[in-house]
Amino acid sequence: MTLLVKNIGTLAGIDEDGLTRRQGAQMRQLNCIDQAWVLVEDGVIIDFGEEDDIILLEDDTMIVVDAEGGMVLPSWCDSHTHIVYAGSREQEFVDKINGLSYAEIARRGGGILNSADRLHAMSEDELYEQAMHRVREVIAKGTGAIEIKSGYGLNTEDELKMLRVIRRIQQNTRLRVVSTFLGAHAVGRAYAGRQADYVDMLINEMLPAVAQEHLADYVDVFCDEGFFTPEETGRILEKALDYGMRGKIHGQELADSGGVEVAVKHCALSVDHLESMTDRDIELLRGSETMPTALPGTSFFLNMPFAPARKMIEAGLGVAIASDYNPGSTPSGDMKFAVSLACIKMRLQPAEAINAATINSAYAMGISDSYGSIAKGKVANFFITEPLPSVDFIPYAYTTPIIRRTFLAGEEF
Ligand code: NIG
Ligand code: FE
Repeated sequence: MTLLVKNIGTLAGIDEDGLTRRQGAQMRQLNCIDQAWVLVEDGVIIDFGEEDDIILLEDDTMIVVDAEGGMVLPSWCDSHTHIVYAGSREQEFVDKINGLSYAEIARRGGGILNSADRLHAMSEDELYEQAMHRVREVIAKGTGAIEIKSGYGLNTEDELKMLRVIRRIQQNTRLRVVSTFLGAHAVGRAYAGRQADYVDMLINEMLPAVAQEHLADYVDVFCDEGFFTPEETGRILEKALDYGMRGKIHGQELADSGGVEVAVKHCALSVDHLESMTDRDIELLRGSETMPTALPGTSFFLNMPFAPARKMIEAGLGVAIASDYNPGSTPSGDMKFAVSLACIKMRLQPAEAINAATINSAYAMGISDSYGSIAKGKVANFFITEPLPSVDFIPYAYTTPIIRRTFLAGEEF
C-alpha cells in the first residue's frame, strides 16, 4: 500500500545523515522542509521532498492524505513509562499537597507497594484493559513508540503477569512497544526487611524466568537512596547482560546515589531521572553509550528540581526526554507537555526538546535506526498538526492540542 501525504506546511525532524542520536550542538538542529510531501510504502517512509516535484508522483493507486498546510512531525518516542498499572493513587496526591514527600509516602508503605497490592488483586485482563485505555490516549497525543516497565509485581508471578500484559499491548497495537523488566523497583512485601534476599531471588529466579519467556528487552533498577544500592544494581545488570538484556536505570532522582556511575560502568542504554546528578556524573557520561534521560513531568508533579539538561547539552551530551507515565510521580503521558516543560523549566530550545523527545528517546529504547525521525527507510510514524506559525509554537502553546491526525506504520489511528 502506498500513501502520499501532500500539502504539508512544514515537514520537521528530517534526518538525512543517519545519526542514531544527536549530541551537544547537534541537538539544536531540527531539519525541516517547507511545502513538502512524504511518500510511504508498506508502512515505511520511502521518499519525501518539496511540493514542486509532486505532480510526477501522484497516481490512482495511492491513498492521498491532504495535510491542509499542517506540520508533519515524527511521532514522539516515550522511552520511559510505567503505563501498565492498576487503579490510581490520587490519595497520595492529596498527601503530597498536605506536605508529605514522595520518599515519606514510600516509607509508610504507600507508593510503589500500594500499586503492587492493587496489581496483585487485579486480573490480567482488567490490567490489560486499563493499560490499553492509557495507550490509546497517548497514541492520540502523538506517541508512536513507547517503553513500558514492569515493577508493580515485585514477586515472580506478578512481574510475569505485568510483562505478559506489555506483550499483549505489543501484539495488539501498531505502537512500537519496548519492554523493560523492573523487578528492582522496590522490595516486595514478602521480603520486607530482607532486601539482600530479594535481590538474590530477583537474580536467581525472576531474571531467568523473564529471559526464558523472552518477555523483556531491557532491565531496570531503581538505584537510589532508600531503594537499591549501586552494588546491588551492578550485580543485577551484570546478570542481565548474561541474558542479553542491557540496563535502563532509574538513577539519581532522590539523591546523589551513584546511579550514573553504575549505569555507565555496565554500559546501560539509558540512565533516567537525574534530578540530583552532579558535574562528575556529566563527566562520566561523556564518551559513553548511555543516554541521559530527563523526566520533566516528574519534577513538575513532585515539585522537585529539574535535571540539569542545559548543562548536559553544553557539555556535549545528548539528552532524551520521556514522560515517566506512572500512578505515583507522573500520572501523565503527554509528551508535548514534557517538551514544553523541558523548554520552560530546563531552558532547552524548542528544537533541542523535540530532538530529545524523538531521535534521542528512540536511541534510549535502542530503536533509533528505524524510529525517531523522518528518514528514508524508517517506519512511517508521524502526526499531522493544524497549520502552525512555526515549530517553536509547539512547546509555546503548552496546552493547545495541535494534532489533527496520527499515523502508525503508515496507517491512520
Ligand atoms: O519513575 N522512581 C521510581 N519509580 C517511578 C514512580 C513509581 C511510582 O511512584 O509508582 C518513577 O517516578
Ligand atoms: Fe520511572
